[in-house]
Amino acid sequence: MQIEELKLLNFRNYERVGVSFDPNLNVIYGKNGSGKTNLVEAIYVLALTRSFKQIHDKTLIRHDTEVTKIEGLVKGKYQNTYQVLITPEGKKVKVDSNKLTKISEYISKIPIVLFNPNDLKMIKDTPSIRRKYLNIAISQLHVSYLKQLNSYNKLLKIRNSYLKQMYVNGNALQDYLDVVTEKLVLEGLQIYEQRKEYIALINEQIASIYEQIVGSGNLCIKYTSDYSKKSKEELVEIYKKSLSRDLSFGKTNLGVHHDDICFCLDGKDLKDYGSEGQQKNAVISWKFSEMAIFREQKGVLPILILDDLLSELDMEKIKNILSFIHEEGQTFITTTEIEKIEYLLDEKSYKKIHIRNGKLEEV
Ligand SMILES: Nc1ncnc2c1ncn2[C@@H]1O[C@H](COP(=O)(O)OP(=O)(O)O)[C@@H](O)[C@H]1O
Ligand SMILES: [Mg+2]
Repeated sequence: MQIEELKLLNFRNYERVGVSFDPNLNVIYGKNGSGKTNLVEAIYVLALTRSFKQIHDKTLIRHDTEVTKIEGLVKGKYQNTYQVLITPEGKKVKVDSNKLTKISEYISKIPIVLFNPNDLKMIKDTPSIRRKYLNIAISQLHVSYLKQLNSYNKLLKIRNSYLKQMYVNGNALQDYLDVVTEKLVLEGLQIYEQRKEYIALINEQIASIYEQIVGSGNLCIKYTSDYSKKSKEELVEIYKKSLSRDLSFGKTNLGVHHDDICFCLDGKDLKDYGSEGQQKNAVISWKFSEMAIFREQKGVLPILILDDLLSELDMEKIKNILSFIHEEGQTFITTTEIEKIEYLLDEKSYKKIHIRNGKLEEV
């Protein structure tokens, strides 16, 4: 999958941009604040309709303007034009001239894997952030996963509000709660299975990738879930037992909405024991694992974005990371230090794009 051309209108610090990309490797360089991350963010939004940053969509609209439009000519099996339009009222997506009413039908058409230094959050931050990363990865692989997630979350909301109602109104029907709980368990089990399977696939890749980047260390991902190794019947029973607790909290205390993953290096949690460098290499290894899984399952490589790759890593590791860049996939690297990348990329052919204050120059 390749983005051949990208057009932006009033996206972040870009007023109007049209740029064509190399089918394989693109190196985007420029000073801090020039717009490198903004450009790869636009590519990410084109693929997934939202930013990788935890921001409101309207932040993407250039200051003092009303609408931003991102348009890309994308080559997969066919060549299609994708378009994302964002206004303060909402967003619209289009493939060629067809407006899609469901965003879920649009995403997963352009698979993408992005690394940004902020992704260290995946290790350092709360379980909910880790689940978010995991959800994005799985939903690109299985469209149905997003639907399951949505219906689980809906059932959870219903269950929680009914718990509150039961607490206030002692004679509310227990039967209704049982029905909702059973549905919740069924959806939850499907989500659990998909997550378990995905983590197993990650674990087939991640140790050797980490080792090749860093030179030593045994990295694995541990998945923890309330649903682990439990049947539907056992889970329904567990929910029954925790009813009084759920009632007093007014919410559901057990479920896949509490799942977590842990990055374990040589048996220790990188969150507590890892250096910044180890954490960064672990997250990059996860991203390359995502790439490998996607290719194995779907036969195509996602678009890979490595934003600000050089910061805080030594040359040796960066060299090893660059060796994972596939000839057949499309990659975008952003950096402030073009000389270093040029030296490392050696005889690889690539396109250089220079950014200065929201203006692009193809070099
Ligand atoms: N909605 C927006 N409208 C105009 N400028 C923006 C908007 N959002 C961010 N910017 C500007 O974009 C610049 C940051 O660009 P960024 O891509 O993060 O730089 P870098 O090249 O360091 O990655 C900042 O100068 C910021 O003020
Ligand atoms: Mg940046």
